[in-house]
Amino acid sequence: MQIVTVDGRDRATFEQFFELRDAVRRESEFPAGLGLEESLVLFTGEHSAMRVDGLGLVDGDTWLGIAWLDWWLQENTHVVEVELAVAAQYRRTGVGSRLLEAVAELARKDGRRLLSGSALGDATTGESAGTAFAAARGFVRKHVDLHQVLELPLSAERLDELDQPVAGYEIIQWREHAPEEWLEQFAEALSAMTVDVPTGELDHDPITWTTERVREAEALRIKQGRFSFTTVAVDADGQLAAYTQMGGSAANPDRLYQWDTFVRPEHRGRRLGMAVKVPNFRALQAELDHPAVLHTWNAPTNTPMIAVNVHLGFRPVAQRTDWELEL
Ligand SMILES: CC(C)(COP(=O)(O)OP(=O)(O)OC[C@H]1O[C@@H](n2cnc3c(N)ncnc32)[C@H](O)[C@@H]1OP(=O)(O)O)[C@@H](O)C(=O)NCCC(=O)NCCS
Repeated sequence: MQIVTVDGRDRATFEQFFELRDAVRRESEFPAGLGLEESLVLFTGEHSAMRVDGLGLVDGDTWLGIAWLDWWLQENTHVVEVELAVAAQYRRTGVGSRLLEAVAELARKDGRRLLSGSALGDATTGESAGTAFAAARGFVRKHVDLHQVLELPLSAERLDELDQPVAGYEIIQWREHAPEEWLEQFAEALSAMTVDVPTGELDHDPITWTTERVREAEALRIKQGRFSFTTVAVDADGQLAAYTQMGGSAANPDRLYQWDTFVRPEHRGRRLGMAVKVPNFRALQAELDHPAVLHTWNAPTNTPMIAVNVHLGFRPVAQRTDWELEL
């Protein structure tokens, strides 16, 4: 048995690594996450914000478990994000622990002081093998997100019912690239979102989005075969007051994601969240020719966001808990 490193240059190794990770994700009733090619782009590319690589524990040709590692390069340079996945038949034999030890060693060598990871669990209790493992290995639970799903498409009548434009705001939409005119304000809004979004006790810094970083993220998304729909609301003075983003990838067309929804503090309380979401649904559904599941994650303490989602018809399917281990 040995630990191998996975960096994407050897495609055959990468495919074994990915297949195991994806098989474990598919155990969930509503699996989410990147496809093979999307992941490979992360493992092979140079990205200023993140380096991504992994480890596998293998016995001959058999892969017992993997660790997927995200190394933040700009903010959060004290953290390594780790996802562990152990093949079902090898669980409770120490595979996860062995991979974790190897990850901790790499992280220390790189000068990182914190391992951070998420575990999916039951929608009500949040508990699972992942949470039991994290607790047994000394991780501390720092944050909870509720995973909600909504089956699409919504009917035209339902969208009409939900559609409540807010007077005094113009709705603007775009696809893969933020128009130059809105780029700077959009970058500011993305940064403000990372400050405001509830992250519990997590020892994570907010992200500073520059216009260059937005463009780099857009280019990366295109390279990965992903697509996005953005809707913003702009007030009479030309201030970008709210935005929402949804998207997915050609590789997994039945998995769609509701990413950020953000309303600037001075514009809150006017139902702008819904006012940007509904036109975004319309844009997305105009190109949707098959049923799909829309996924979203929000802190249960973020009651306004959860309430908007419940009103839209989202239902809870799991809890994702975030854990940290000081090295
Ligand atoms: C979580 C996971 C990685 C654990 O891997 P593993 O190889 O089974 O873990 P180990 O054998 O090293 O277990 C170490 C300890 O964790 C605890 N533990 C692990 N699984 C457990 C379970 N199902 N129930 C209770 N305790 C558990 C135990 O204390 C165990 O020690 P013990 O077997 O001596 O009692 C594996 O169950 C898995 O892949 N689950 C699905 C994906 C996931 O949840 N990943 C975690 C996200 S980072």
